Amino acid sequence: MRVLGIMGSPRIKGNTDLLLDGALKGARSQGAEVEKLIVDKLNIAPCREYYGCLSDGNCVIRDDMDGIYPKLLNADVVIVASPMFFYGLTSQLKALIDRSQALWARKYVLKQNLPCEGRKGAFIAVGATKGQKLFDGSIFTVKYFFQAIGVEYAEELLIRGVDKKGGIIKHPTALKDAFELGSSIAQR
Ligand SMILES: Cc1cc2nc3c(=O)[nH]c(=O)nc-3n(C[C@H](O)[C@H](O)[C@H](O)COP(=O)(O)O)c2cc1C
Repeated sequence: MRVLGIMGSPRIKGNTDLLLDGALKGARSQGAEVEKLIVDKLNIAPCREYYGCLSDGNCVIRDDMDGIYPKLLNADVVIVASPMFFYGLTSQLKALIDRSQALWARKYVLKQNLPCEGRKGAFIAVGATKGQKLFDGSIFTVKYFFQAIGVEYAEELLIRGVDKKGGIIKHPTALKDAFELGSSIAQR
C-alpha cells in the first residue's frame, strides 16, 4: 500500500503540515509505505495551455512534474492537504493540479486506461474562519483532480477556526481525526 501525501502549504510545520503528518502516521500504522511531497519546495510551473498533452498525454514543460506524474499514477492512496487561501487551494498546489491536465488528457482525450482501479483519495483542509462555505470550492477542485487521475474521493477532514502556526495542536480533535483518516484510508 503506497500512500502519497501532497502538502500544499508553504508553512513548514504549520497546520496543514501537522495534519498531513498525522494522517501519514496513521497510514504507516497500517503498514503503508508513505511519501510526502512539499509542493512549495518543488519547481512546478503553472499550466501554460500549450496543449501538447492532447496529442500524447505528456506535458511539454520540463520541471519537477516529470517525477510527480508517475507518483500520482502509482500511489494506492493520494492525500491532498491545503490551507484555505482566499477560499481556495494554495497557488503552489493549484499549479500541480492544473498540470495534471496531462493525465486528464490521457484518460478523456486519448482514452488510455490509467492504472487506477480501487485507488482512494482524501482531502485535508484548514482555514482561519468559520464560514459555512469555506471549503466548498476547494472540494470541487480536489474531486475533479481525483477524477482526472483515477482516484475516488473517499474521505475528508475540514478544520475551521485555526490560524496561527501550529494552532492545530490546541484543536480538541483534529490531529486524532487526521491519524484516524490516514489509518482508515490505508486499510484494504
Ligand atoms: C494568503 C492567505 C489567504 C488566506 N485566506 C483565507 C481564507 O480565505 N479563509 C480562511 O478561513 N483563512 C484564510 N487564510 C488563513 C489560513 O488558511 C490559516 O492561517 C491556516 O491555518 C494556515 O494553515 P498552514 O499553517 O497550514 O499554512 C489565509 C491565509 C493566507 C496567508
